[in-house]
Amino acid sequence: MKIIIKDDYKQVSEAAAEVVAQKIKNNPHAVLGLATGSTPIGAYGELINMCERGEISFKGVSTINLDEYVGIDGEHNQSYRYFMNTNLFDHVDIDKNNTDLPNGVAKDLEEECKRYSAVIESKTRDIQVLGLGRNGHIGFNEPNTPFDSKTHIVNLTEDTIEANSRLFDDIADVPKRAITMGIAEIMQAKSILLIATGKGKAKAVLDTIEGKVTENVPSSVLQNHDDVTIILDREAASELH
Ligand code: F6R
Repeated sequence: MKIIIKDDYKQVSEAAAEVVAQKIKNNPHAVLGLATGSTPIGAYGELINMCERGEISFKGVSTINLDEYVGIDGEHNQSYRYFMNTNLFDHVDIDKNNTDLPNGVAKDLEEECKRYSAVIESKTRDIQVLGLGRNGHIGFNEPNTPFDSKTHIVNLTEDTIEANSRLFDDIADVPKRAITMGIAEIMQAKSILLIATGKGKAKAVLDTIEGKVTENVPSSVLQNHDDVTIILDREAASELH
C-alpha cells in the first residue's frame, strides 16, 4: 500500500485528482471506477478544472460507479446518478452513454445486479476510486459482507442511514436499500485509490491499514490488493502508528 498524508482536504483532492488524471493521460480510453459521497467531490472539481484547462479529456473515458440507492431514479437529486452528473459528468467532455451506475428503479433488481456484474466483467477498470465508511464499508458493502461478493442488494445499516441523512430533508426519506458492486468486483480493478478525510474516519483508516484482514472490516481487504494508494488528511491519519 502506498500511503500519502496531506495537510487538508484541498491537498488531498488535488493529489487524488492527479492520480486519476495520470490514468487518463496514460490511456485516453481509461475505464474509471468512481465513488460518490462527500469525500471525492473536491477531486472531481480538480478533474473538471484540468479538463477545462485542456490537460485531460474524458472523450474516450468510460466510468462504472460503485453503487446506487434503490427506489429513487436518476432525476432525484439524492440519487447517485444525479450526484455524478452534477459533480462531474455535466462539466467534462464525457459521453454519458459511457457512464454506468446501477439502476435503482429497475423492475427486477436481481436481474439488474446481474446486468451490472456483466458490465463490470466486460471492462477492466484502470482505477477504482473509493471513499471509506466510518465502519469500514466500501461501496455499500457493510461489515461482514463476504469478500467474494459480486453486485448485490443491501439493507443499509442504521449507522450508514444516519451518516447519509445529512443530505436529506428528513432521515425517513433516506432509502433503506442500495445496489452495490461487490467486494470481489472492487478488487478486480487494476489499481485502487482510497481517499479519507476528517477525524471521523481515523479509526476506520487504522483498521484498514494496520488491522487484521477480516470481513468485519470490509476495507481491510485492500491489504490483499497489490496496487493500492491511500490518500489521507492529517486527521484521518491521526490514529496510524
Ligand atoms: C459512495 C460509497 C460509500 C462512500 C462512503 C464514504 O459511492 O460507496 O462507500 O464512499 O460512505 O462517504 P463520504 O465520502 O460521504 O464520507
